[in-house]
Amino acid sequence: FQVPPAVNEPIKSYAPGTPERASVLETYKKLYNSKVEIPLYIGGKEIKTGHTKSIRPPHDHQKEVGTYHTAEKQHVEDAISTALEARKKWAKLPWEQRAAVFLKAADLIAGPYRDKMNASTMIGQSKNIFQAEIDSACEIVDFLRFNVEYMSQIYEEQPESDAQAWNRVEHRPLEGFVYAITPFNFTAIAGNLPSSAALMGNVAVWKPSDSQMYSAQVIMEVFKEAGLPDGVINMIIGDPEMITDTVLASPDFAGVHFTGSTNVFKGIWAKIGQNIHNYKTYPRIVGETGGKDFIVAHNSASPKVVSTALARGAFEFQGQKCSAASRSYIPKSIWPEVKDLLVEDIKSFKIGSPENMENFINAVIHEASFDKLAKYIDQAKEDKDAEIIAGGNYDKSKGWFVEPTVIVTTDPKYTTMVTELFGPVLTIYVYDDDKYEETLHLVDETSQYGLTGSIISTDRYAASQATDILENSAGNFYINDKCTGAVVGRQPFGGARNSGTNDKAGSKLNLLRWTSPRLIKETF
Ligand code: ALA
Repeated sequence: FQVPPAVNEPIKSYAPGTPERASVLETYKKLYNSKVEIPLYIGGKEIKTGHTKSIRPPHDHQKEVGTYHTAEKQHVEDAISTALEARKKWAKLPWEQRAAVFLKAADLIAGPYRDKMNASTMIGQSKNIFQAEIDSACEIVDFLRFNVEYMSQIYEEQPESDAQAWNRVEHRPLEGFVYAITPFNFTAIAGNLPSSAALMGNVAVWKPSDSQMYSAQVIMEVFKEAGLPDGVINMIIGDPEMITDTVLASPDFAGVHFTGSTNVFKGIWAKIGQNIHNYKTYPRIVGETGGKDFIVAHNSASPKVVSTALARGAFEFQGQKCSAASRSYIPKSIWPEVKDLLVEDIKSFKIGSPENMENFINAVIHEASFDKLAKYIDQAKEDKDAEIIAGGNYDKSKGWFVEPTVIVTTDPKYTTMVTELFGPVLTIYVYDDDKYEETLHLVDETSQYGLTGSIISTDRYAASQATDILENSAGNFYINDKCTGAVVGRQPFGGARNSGTNDKAGSKLNLLRWTSPRLIKETF
């Protein structure tokens, strides 16, 4: 079959006076003034366990907008057995039927659910509408549509045959179930990790982040309305360690699709190792983890291009993107101009609730994140080799607000130059223009992560040198752009080193991890 050609979902503007702005605000207010009660979803049933936790917007932490029920061990076991039962039919369903479910889901999100997806992401994750739109409206739809196209390409590719022997490859789902663990920061990733495995015929137990429950529930609503059969994706939430231990103890555990922290992923990997003799098959381990992403400027770069890349790359969604720029290297000759432009840009950022669409900066996700950021900012205020040139204040009276902060350091290995902070803090090291090559080596040596990075340069030799020396420092490497904003279907996303297994989300490569191909040779 020919699948519908995938095209990127157009981004709506939400400019003042547009109908989409009025419409999403209305949904936002309606949700804000009501209370949602989020169950577990096991086998299509909504399970209310009676053990609940509050959902509070990060920008208004005294306000309760809903609750979610948490799982006990028995619920996790039920989710696994229900998934395995559902697998019997789902794995045999012709692939175009599976594709149709997810194309329908994409259509629902692009249309009738768009406002609800965006508003729930704005409330639950404190994203402004422009960031919510590219995530919970466009990127999620792009994942769903492009994955269908990639799946059909995978199925089409067949080995050579001849008159005597017919060789065919069957892309069977993994034997067992897939465990999807998703982060708070992208609603699109939450939608993609369970659905990409399910599209390939697998069944999933999905554990969203408890800081993303609000929009996670909307995703489940959409899947249900799209006709996803009961039990194919089961959503559970609760004590992460208990859930993970229970899942990994199952002999039918066949793979993990993870986005989250490096430490948690390494812990899962180690536990899989401990359980390896119990499994029926070697589990697939796919993860996207931390980052300490960089922007390097060469002295041929335009200061305006550099400052814009920094302002957007470091501070959109409060720097809580795995791809966000959190360290930068600027040559001395252009630094005064870059500094003035950057500080000016940051001064123009308004901070507050996403309900006011003028606010570019909203709250960071939770108290632990706020405390961590405050600690490093305070430390920088004390340290002799660091100077704060913008921001540096924080306020938790109403929400977890941290000002976009720029630290300039004289030590290229200063703590905030090498530690992942996951927030609106950018650290800059100013280098001597004649030490460009040395600086590139320094960037590479201090890249224990390898997710995203940029070189900004109009000098082709300099850009090429950076591309070469930083070969392993960034799985997504940008020339003359910020290091965020990968688009599905254009820039497959992921990195190696401590940033993950580099199985590029939004690509054929990723979908291939969710199949166990069988070769059939038939002779005549
Ligand atoms: N698509 C997201 C970005 O590249 C992860 O910023």
